[in-house]
Amino acid sequence: MKHLIDIKDLSVQEIEELIKVAKDIMQNPEKYSEKCKHKKLATLFFEPSTRTRLSFESAMIELGGNVIGFSSASSSSTAKGESVSDTIRTVGCYSDIIAMRHPKEGAPLVASIKSTVPIINAGDGGHNHPTQTLTDLLTISCEKKRLDNLTIGLCGDLKFGRTVHSLITAMSRYKNIKFILISPEELKIPEYIKEEILEKNNIEYVETNDLEKYMNELDILYMTRVQKERFFNEEDYLRLKDYYILNKNKLETAKEDLCIMHPLPRVNEIATEVDDDPRACYFKQVRYGKYIRMALILKLLEIK
Ligand code: NCD
Repeated sequence: MKHLIDIKDLSVQEIEELIKVAKDIMQNPEKYSEKCKHKKLATLFFEPSTRTRLSFESAMIELGGNVIGFSSASSSSTAKGESVSDTIRTVGCYSDIIAMRHPKEGAPLVASIKSTVPIINAGDGGHNHPTQTLTDLLTISCEKKRLDNLTIGLCGDLKFGRTVHSLITAMSRYKNIKFILISPEELKIPEYIKEEILEKNNIEYVETNDLEKYMNELDILYMTRVQKERFFNEEDYLRLKDYYILNKNKLETAKEDLCIMHPLPRVNEIATEVDDDPRACYFKQVRYGKYIRMALILKLLEIK
């Protein structure tokens, strides 16, 4: 049985196949509308979510399947003190596949050890978010028509931003990728990502706190929210939350075909005036998320 806990659980070739299936679903949705008939997806969200949970649920519904689940720890037996393992063993009796989000790093991995059905990590603390990365890869593939030869700026909370960690891990497997890591000193990318991913794979990267300095070089600008819920101290959050605000002015030197991405939710880090810029891809990205999750559900349930 296969789970998706870390983006590295999928080979580059498997990702390529998922992207191919997702593109086919976009072209021919009717072909897939009964593929998951009589199958159930459980979404266990111990942390808030709009896009990830609802895109999983609509993905399963569009495959003809059904959905059960909860959207907060307080509405589940976790509030009574039940362990993640026991919750998973229980839900495995009611469903064929589980998408799970949890504030603790590693919780989906622990869950997968005891699970009788495939587990998908839908975000674990400040660690990983592999299905957002699949969404991002489909977005890049559709918008840039390639996954190699890219200069990617990642801006904002690179310390706690799990989408950034998974995206760097995934992109480091493609040729000629360069990262511009843009963050305040306090929110720099964790050392383990630098050592185990970037340096180990000889990936070129620059760390800077200046959003405009490298703007003209970027093929992709991936903006992120400062992760309020992971701060120990409110004062630090308030000081850092509006450190970067992307607006039209700051895009003056950017390439014509820059692709501006954001996993969303946005707080203040992209001014709404940017939304009408043809380079703004973040709402398209939301749409791609549903299709790649449809492809992933099919793969993990071994449905052709
Ligand atoms: C992200 C997450 O939950 O990590 N959102 C998402 O899943 N699209 C990003 C965030 O919350 O900032």
